[in-house]
Amino acid sequence: MKPLIFSLPGNETLAASLARELDAEPGSVEIRRFPDGESYVRILSQVSGRECLLVATLDRPDDKILPLSFLATTARELGAARVTLIAPYLAYMRQDRRFQSGESVTSARFARFLSGWIDGLVTIDPHLHRRSSLEEIYTVPCTTLHAAPLISRWIKEEVVNPLLVGPDVESEQWVAEVASEVGSPWVVLKKERLGDRNVRISVPGLDHWLDRTPVLIDDIISTARTMIETVGHLVRAGMKAPVCVGVHAVFAGPAYADLRAAGAGRIVTCNTIPHESNGIDVCPLLAGALREER
Ligand code: R5P
Repeated sequence: MKPLIFSLPGNETLAASLARELDAEPGSVEIRRFPDGESYVRILSQVSGRECLLVATLDRPDDKILPLSFLATTARELGAARVTLIAPYLAYMRQDRRFQSGESVTSARFARFLSGWIDGLVTIDPHLHRRSSLEEIYTVPCTTLHAAPLISRWIKEEVVNPLLVGPDVESEQWVAEVASEVGSPWVVLKKERLGDRNVRISVPGLDHWLDRTPVLIDDIISTARTMIETVGHLVRAGMKAPVCVGVHAVFAGPAYADLRAAGAGRIVTCNTIPHESNGIDVCPLLAGALREER
């Protein structure tokens, strides 16, 4: 029997592409809010005995997570054989330790919460920094995919003579991989986070790279302060307008406009979160992994 693919609001384009790629049946669900703000969820497809794939990217997660949990638990209650969450962007990965006494380690809390009502998780480049795999906190099987090959291909096709730049040591993992596929030099900068919207970046001497186009690569662009600071340094050092590439276009508040105003050249992201900067399609990556799992 074909799997059913359900889209949570805002994920319709990706869910439809995945359904086509996988020859899956689009699932039908009604999700809306009652006037008092509570969620209403009604599954209209027959889920009994079926594999259900729920497509829900989890940026701005707090409003999404309850309807998603109602959908998943109801599908199970109605006899779904398996409920897999496809969350191209996985939220709550950055608070991975207690930096100050009394703080909630939300990555672990969120993982336990999600693991309680799904049978599997598929995601792309979750922010693994102090943890080496999702299985350290999730108790369901997790498929972790990487956008690096897609980013490498995009850079090869679109940027002449690039210098890849990672804003901090955390980015070294994917910057080094992308650089080796592109066949270009790379540098990783030093970042100090001074607050939610305040970072300090130290840049090494760049004089011998002035003929290259800097390409900044990061996993998440949220407030964009990391990229904005880096762009400022590179432009002041006399480099060409940097190309900014992010996997996840979170772009909090005016971050996108701020990054443009800071002197970024092109800004390109993967479509793990729908945004006007999306230029790299992750659907084939997700479809390939889901095909292998079947
Ligand atoms: C940091 O740990 C991440 O890899 C990104 O550098 C960070 O999330 C970017 O955040 P922002 O856009 O708020 O500077």
